[in-house]
Amino acid sequence: MPSLPRFSPLIKSLSNTHLKMVITHYFPIFAIFFVISLLSTPASAHLYSGVEDTEGISNDWFPEILRVEAVARLTELGKVSDADGYLERTYLSPASIKAGNLIRGWMGEAGLRTWVDQMGNIHGRVEGMNASSRALLIGSHLDTVIDAGMFDGTLGIISAISAVKVLNVNGQLGKLKRPVEVIAFSDEEGVRFQSTFLGSAALAGVLSVSALQIQDKSGVTLQNVLNENYIEISEESFFQLKYNPESVWGYIEVHIEQGPVLESVGLPLGVVKGIAGQSRLKVTVRGSQGHAGTVPMSMRQDPMAAAAELIVLLESLCKHPDDFLSYDGHCKGITVESLVGSLVCTVGEISCWPSASNVIPGETTFTVDIRAMDDMGREAVIYELSNRIHQICDRRAVSCSIEPKHNANAVACDSGLSSQLKSAAYTAMKRIAGEVSNDVPVLMSGAGHDAMAMSHLTKVGMLFVRCRGGISHSPAEHVLDDDVWAAGLALLSFLETQL
Ligand SMILES: *[C@@H]1O[C@H](CO)[C@@H](O)[C@H](O)[C@H]1NC(C)=O
Ligand SMILES: [Zn+2]
Repeated sequence: MPSLPRFSPLIKSLSNTHLKMVITHYFPIFAIFFVISLLSTPASAHLYSGVEDTEGISNDWFPEILRVEAVARLTELGKVSDADGYLERTYLSPASIKAGNLIRGWMGEAGLRTWVDQMGNIHGRVEGMNASSRALLIGSHLDTVIDAGMFDGTLGIISAISAVKVLNVNGQLGKLKRPVEVIAFSDEEGVRFQSTFLGSAALAGVLSVSALQIQDKSGVTLQNVLNENYIEISEESFFQLKYNPESVWGYIEVHIEQGPVLESVGLPLGVVKGIAGQSRLKVTVRGSQGHAGTVPMSMRQDPMAAAAELIVLLESLCKHPDDFLSYDGHCKGITVESLVGSLVCTVGEISCWPSASNVIPGETTFTVDIRAMDDMGREAVIYELSNRIHQICDRRAVSCSIEPKHNANAVACDSGLSSQLKSAAYTAMKRIAGEVSNDVPVLMSGAGHDAMAMSHLTKVGMLFVRCRGGISHSPAEHVLDDDVWAAGLALLSFLETQL
């Protein structure tokens, strides 16, 4: 989820340990084949080896638009920041407005009719041959986290605009079978208002109108912020943001993987099978506050030590759910098996009162973030966790409360759209590399995306793009120029053949 920087997408049916085993056992063999393939196909193979010279690139697949210009635009957007020295672009900030204007200009140049909606989302649309048929929406977000990388979100927007521009340059834009609309969502990361997906949730009709009254840290409401930016919004007009599901055919999104799987298999693109469900909890442990020097160890009710035990319990439970979950019968096998592949749990924030080195704390609170593809499995983990937390707290004579903060069920990507995206990705990889021996990998997303909100409106599909070291939400985030090209080519192929 946006406010939580780390996540781990997982390859379907391959547990991490299995993957690691395969890689360590077979790496020498892979390496030999890789070297042989480099030697036998010199013209194309360098494209996957990370060499970024533009010499010798095939001119057939629009490298000047999909690669050179796309990378230049991503780099330009990467400098549009509210902060000095690092990238920060929160909802409707001056930098966000500037980035939105740039994006809108590029949409127009690609042949799209553009507008800004009442949540500040930027739209660019072409009607194609039949304006009344259902539209394909392609989107991602233009906001960023604090000290962000330059590909998260913007890669999806820029590759969509680039693909449309190729069609425009080739005179094919008017021949699209259905309307195509590129959307740059104004808020996905949720940094400013601590409320994620403001942009996409409003279009999908799953944002409550009360969201207009939420306040940022300085007490400014969402409605104020919109008004300050000359966007008049009322409760009535808010409801008009929602798209009619009958007018939409589907939603697709290209996004950096933000995990290490594609890099480990050596491929630029992967298809997302689904987005993990997520629960956030707040655990409060209350003990007996006292003097660090005078209360004997045997007489303490220390909430900090209790919290430490609870956090280690969470880690063990999520590493080995099969050792913990013992509910009856047939569903156990399925649930536990699916959990082992995708369950991840994190304590990312902890605080205590009064927080002084010579005081036994009176109260400790920490957050819990639990994600899994299997919603029932995730609930089973929370149930088991709660029981064991209360056991430990009883034993330690501290009082514990568990407060649910957020719950989102997993989203399955549409199987039809996914196989269309898969064949588009395959075509793109083949066009760049000549031959592709591997199948396009199918991954899970541990991170939330606009596609999650859009799934309430229409069928969704996603493509992941390899990023270096799986790193994101960091200035170290990096995507190879060739992989930017691959992403644009995949969308181009989708528009050409899959509508
Ligand atoms: C355009 O699309 C609409 C809705 O799908 C359909 O009813 C209509 O027949 C289409 N028109 C043409 C000319 O194909
Ligand atoms: Zn993102």
